[in-house]
Amino acid sequence: MKPPTTGPEVDSFYHLADVEMTHRRCRGLACFAAQAQDRAGWSAALAQWPPVYCLGKCYAAPASTETPQEPIVEAHCSDPIILDGVADNSMRSLADYRSRGGYSGLDRALAGPPDAVVREVEVSQLRGRGGAGFPAGKKWRAVYDAPGETKYVVANADEGDHGSYIDRFIMERTPHRLIEAMAISAHAIGALHGYIYLRKEYPAAYDSLLVALDEARAAGILGTHFDLEIVIGQGSYVCGEETSLLNSIEHRRPEVRARPPFPTAEGLFGKPTLVNNVETLASVPWIIRYGGAAYAARGFSKSRGTKAISMSSLFNRPGLYEVEFGVPLRTIIEDIGGGLRTTAPKAIIIGGPLAGLIHPREFDTPLGFEELQAVGGSVGHGGMVAFDQNTNMAELLAHVFTFGAIESCGKCTPCRLGSRRLESLFRKAANGERLDAAETAEVRALLDTLIQTSLCGHGSGLAVFANSMFAKYGEELSSCFA
Ligand SMILES: Cc1cc2nc3c(=O)[nH]c(=O)nc-3n(C[C@H](O)[C@H](O)[C@H](O)COP(=O)(O)O)c2cc1C
Ligand code: SF4
Repeated sequence: MKPPTTGPEVDSFYHLADVEMTHRRCRGLACFAAQAQDRAGWSAALAQWPPVYCLGKCYAAPASTETPQEPIVEAHCSDPIILDGVADNSMRSLADYRSRGGYSGLDRALAGPPDAVVREVEVSQLRGRGGAGFPAGKKWRAVYDAPGETKYVVANADEGDHGSYIDRFIMERTPHRLIEAMAISAHAIGALHGYIYLRKEYPAAYDSLLVALDEARAAGILGTHFDLEIVIGQGSYVCGEETSLLNSIEHRRPEVRARPPFPTAEGLFGKPTLVNNVETLASVPWIIRYGGAAYAARGFSKSRGTKAISMSSLFNRPGLYEVEFGVPLRTIIEDIGGGLRTTAPKAIIIGGPLAGLIHPREFDTPLGFEELQAVGGSVGHGGMVAFDQNTNMAELLAHVFTFGAIESCGKCTPCRLGSRRLESLFRKAANGERLDAAETAEVRALLDTLIQTSLCGHGSGLAVFANSMFAKYGEELSSCFA
């Protein structure tokens, strides 16, 4: 374990440097939604605990570091790819993973040339699960083609999007799947060293990965041609952004880097670097084992394969589910999640809080990158947070901008200052004070500026969220704004 901290100018960036992960309460979106439903959800003692953004226990929200429950984990597709072994917790050890065909993808990859592995990922049409849906094959090809002897592979295990606990359970219960995927990608792009950038909020995933890394080294899977190390994040949402993450590994102040150059050309320590999300990587062993065409045969439209969806505590069946792309949201919400346990849903957000809200009239939209984008939503990371009729939308707006202001990396002024100003205006509205015409115009102007000038998706995503709120819940908010 190598904490990415050096001195005060770097340490001061983080919220959890030198902090023990105990006695903290979660204030992510799922916990906000749960408290709107049940304001007595926090005992007075718990409310005194310092807050933290998203512990990945959204199925048990309102949650804390001490919340013991585990979620339901089920595959709702035939031949699961991501949750195989996760659902029944049956592949944690190397022996169990191997007995179910684990590492046969790596054997297959090593038996052929790197180019063939990259080709298989291209054929699969796998897209990044970290939020942007970027084609994985295109990224792998770019790093493969990049000149240079030294290259790196990095797993983004920062999973900061509220509502998401997918990567968490992949790592806790099938750590060897991530190691196998990274070893395959290292062979494909020519990397000798890799990093898993793991958030501090996931101590059980750390423990599980450590055991698996030891097992893999003892078995000669790691340690000869390729090795991996874990870097623990110190509490910063924006460190999930890939260039901020790379700065964090390099022990620099983790502000977002301007692009180009992209990490595929100049990434970690200036070398070509493949950064992929954990769930993206978790599909790779299956793709290499059964072929990219078999993967591409599943799913629909431009969204191929399967997707894990994690559902928040307001659902009757909060849990982690694997579905094929193309399934309507309504099926996930009503059949798999069992609908809400409180009232009719008012809204859901997937991949929040930097995404648009989805209104119940849009629930027949199929799960797909372009399809959700067309209704102003996002596949995002796949964490689905439900809001019921008890949710006050002005409060939700203020809550998201508090998060936005706290987590802004500060690199660009509109996000650093604009998110703070918007937070105070939205807080005023949430407190029942109507914003006058000048303040309402200021809100509009600041949101436009965030969309147009933000260096990364943090600033622009906040504005997307607010704009979707105004577009879909404008009537409820009309008393707050001129
Ligand atoms: C503010 C911000 C936070 C992000 N957080 C995460 C994260 O926690 N996990 C993640 O995998 N990607 C996150 N991303 C996306 C990464 O920058 C990057 O696109 C991703 O790791 C690439 O992997 P993929 O192509 O497999 O999705 C974030 C992006 C932004 C703008
Ligand atoms: S948009 Fe915000 S988080 Fe992103 S680079 Fe600018 S200041 Fe940093």
